[in-house]
This record gives sequence, structure tokens and C-alpha cells, in this order.
Amino acid sequence: MANLNGKKFNVGGVALDRPFKIRRLGHFGFNASDFEASRRFYFDLLGFFVTEPAGAGFFGRHAGDHHSFALFDKKKFNERQYAGHNAKHFREENDINQITWQVQSVAEMAEATKYFHDLGVEVMREGRAGGGGSQFHLYVWAPDEQIFELYYGIEQISWNGYARPVAMRHGNSIAPSEPQLPDYQLITNDIKKGISVLDGHRWVSELALKYRVDGVLLPQPFKITRVGPVKLFVDDYEKLKRWHMEVLGFTLTEEVDWQGERCAFLRCDNEHHSLGIFPKSWRKKLGLSEKTSNMSFGLQLANYQQLKDAVKFLRDNGVRVETDIIPPELHPGIDYAAYAFDPDGHCIELYCYMEQLGWDGKPRPKELRRKVDPNNWPEMLEPLSDTYTGEPFIGPWA
Ligand SMILES: [Fe+2]
Repeated sequence: MANLNGKKFNVGGVALDRPFKIRRLGHFGFNASDFEASRRFYFDLLGFFVTEPAGAGFFGRHAGDHHSFALFDKKKFNERQYAGHNAKHFREENDINQITWQVQSVAEMAEATKYFHDLGVEVMREGRAGGGGSQFHLYVWAPDEQIFELYYGIEQISWNGYARPVAMRHGNSIAPSEPQLPDYQLITNDIKKGISVLDGHRWVSELALKYRVDGVLLPQPFKITRVGPVKLFVDDYEKLKRWHMEVLGFTLTEEVDWQGERCAFLRCDNEHHSLGIFPKSWRKKLGLSEKTSNMSFGLQLANYQQLKDAVKFLRDNGVRVETDIIPPELHPGIDYAAYAFDPDGHCIELYCYMEQLGWDGKPRPKELRRKVDPNNWPEMLEPLSDTYTGEPFIGPWA
């Protein structure tokens, strides 16, 4: 599938091949077969905050975005998501709840909705979320029947930790064709109607604050500072690589040959990769779960010390954590990585450093990358030219 035959779109005064520019991974989720076990893993151990319950699960966050991670009960989610005419999209191995990318304006969302309709891609949902987050959103069925979302303007949870009350969400099921009121005006109108801004959900943690983490006490010895990259096992490598590049506008950073097949690392920003595309035959070769089409979900921790502490903490809490299951040549751009397995066997890629690309879009030559022995991590690291660069974490950790 190509994009619309060379047509150019005006995106904020710049001519692009599609009417939007993906800026970052916004959120991601899993459908869990044992919800309580996975809740403990993601919220109690990894430290996502619960923003609010969401029908069959929880919206979770690590920063101000209303949700950066969603965890749903698989049985309840599947019963709802694949009911009626959506039954044809069901695949047992697809237990990613959604793969969601941010664009930068309401106009991009409106034009993106037309673009996908014009491409003949089946749209699942459009308009504005009424169910938490209040973002303008567009869900489509992507190749391999993955649930792909674009959004603009997700609600920010501020200093007081309260989510936006349900009565203030202004959900809508049609992409906007007219300019929208700014949120501050909608909220002023709602307050005048007598709705309280404190009617929303506020999470109260009961976890003991046992660890000193760079000057703050936390329930775990590390802090998630970024979500992604997302890595997928796909049916047709070339097709999925092209779809992400041509239809969505991802840039190919590099491909890696391994055991006679290839994988691709694609980006939407200056990070080496935001997305990885891997052939399904590698699930078995790498010893990863063959029950899921997700290869891994990345979580960046604040620094190398925290990454080391996370490995020990998770193992002490009964989590399987491996440092050598994915060979270093299959995670270029990330140096030290630990792979933690959730109760469903999903692979969580914990790391602290992501290579940053400059204006010329060239990754660091392989021979100039840090040499990593996955089974022998040094006490301290020498800095690289791009250590502690890239998008910083905004606001306090917790
Ligand atoms: Fe979403």
C-alpha cells in the first residue's frame, strides 16, 4: 500500500507526503490474561501510576500524560473489542491493546482521518475520546490487525494528581471539521455550570517508600522516564516496513541482517528508533514467547545506576530478567538493556540510553558504538557524545 500517489499535504506550511507528522510514541498497552498478576507487575513493581480505572482495566502514566500505558483484562477487552463486525480482526496472538502515536494539532487529526478513509484503511474510531484522556484520536486497523492510534492533545495530569472529571470530557465520535474551543474555555464553561474540577479520579498509593532514588523516596529503586520503543513481530517484513515508512512517515535508521533475515529500526524523532519490525520466525530463534506478536515494549529508566538497580529489584521480586536474551547487534542504538518478562511472557526492554541522530540522519557507525558484554556490566560508564541528551523528562518524577 502506498500513500496517495505523490500528493503533497500542507502541514503547518510545510509540504509533506501525508497530512500529519508523528512526533513520538504516546502510549501503548497490553491485554493481560491474569489481570491481577500483570497489575502488580506494571503498577507495583515497574511503578506506573494508576490514573483511573477504564472499564476492563486501568489507564496508567509515568508522567503528565493521562496515560502512557494501558492494561486491560484480556477476556473482557476481547469480548468488547471484537464483537460484531470487528470479529474478523481478531487474532489470538494480538494482545497489544493499542500502539499510539502523537501528532501536533487538531488540524492534523482531522486531515489524517480523511487520509486513512481515502487510503481505504478501516477506521475503528475517530473524533475525541470520551473515555479518559480527552485526546482527539483516530484508531485504525493496521496490517496484521494491530490496533494503531494517532492522537493530539492528551489531558495532562497536573500537580494535584486529579484526572479530568467525566462530565468535563466532551467526547465526540466524528473528526472535527470546524475549529474547536480551547480546553480552558470548555473548562470555564463547565465550572460555570457547577461541575467540580475535583470530581475526577485521584490515585492513592499504599506502597512503602523504601528506596532512595537520586534524592527522592520511591517504592522501587528506579523511575520510568520514557515509554517505547515498540518492537513488533510481523507476518510480512517488507510490507510492514513499507507501511510504516510510506503511509505513516517513519524514517528507516538501519536494518540488521541476522541468521538470513532482516529486522528494521525506524524512528519518528531524533532517537535511533521508536519502532522495530522483526520477522515472526525470530520468536523461536530468540527464545521469546510465540503467543504474542509483540517482541518487546521499551521503558527508558532515568540512568544507568537505576537500570542496574532495577535488574536486582525485579529479580528479588520474582520477575524473570535476562540481559543476554537479545544479542546486542539486535538492539543497536541502545547499549545496556535488561529484558524483564511480565506474567504473560511479554518482553519489557529496560534501558537508559538511546542513541540520538543529528541533522544528517546518520546513525553512529557500528565501530564507534559502545562495546557491550551483556553479562558483564561495568560499575560506571564513560559518557558518550549523546549521553543525557534527547527529550528530557518534564516535571518531578513522582
Ligand atoms: Fe489510546
